[in-house]
Amino acid sequence: MRVVGICGSLREGSLNRALLAAAAAGLPPGVEFAEWTGLETLPAYDPDADGRLAGPAVARLRRVLAAADAILIATPEYNASIPGALKNALDWASRPFPDNSLRGKPVAVVGASTGVFGAVWAQADLRRVLKTIGADVIETALPVAGAHNAFTAGGALRDRRLAAALRAIVGELLRHSLGRAA
Ligand code: FNR
Repeated sequence: MRVVGICGSLREGSLNRALLAAAAAGLPPGVEFAEWTGLETLPAYDPDADGRLAGPAVARLRRVLAAADAILIATPEYNASIPGALKNALDWASRPFPDNSLRGKPVAVVGASTGVFGAVWAQADLRRVLKTIGADVIETALPVAGAHNAFTAGGALRDRRLAAALRAIVGELLRHSLGRAA
């Protein structure tokens, strides 16, 4: 099984990338994890530039998503919603509609922010967008608040309940993927 991770932040020291790494570290044997890192390579979505005109970065995104058994997205929150670069990637992924690379695909959303609400609105908006696109969205959120203090030096979540919640959401994602394969 192959889980593809997407970090919604372009920042070098992204706490959301740390959250993806913490999730990947807890995956059971036999489950492969790979992060798609092409967020900054995508142009702004333009329907006139889609179809045969879409460039290699778009083709790669669609190929990576199509080959994934499950997708885990870790998103920051910008101004109470999804960062623009991540929304742009999902707009590209949503086409062609309805037969896009996310259709029926199990997707879980987690998020970290330095604020007190842990990117909870960005996660809710992201789940809504993913459902509109046609993904099989895990309903549970994982808000990691105060994210600059949330990780140990080894990269694990310091708070045991949060760490357990992360394992649970990833477990649910894997069950959805196994259910789809059956
Ligand atoms: C933020 N941040 C933020 N945090 C939050 O909880 N709610 C918000 O609405 C916002 N808005 C916001 C806007 C902009 C433009 C920036 C740059 C930041 C804080 C943000 O979530 C925090 O910096 C995270 O650590 C960013 O995630 P990465 O880059 O560490 O993964």
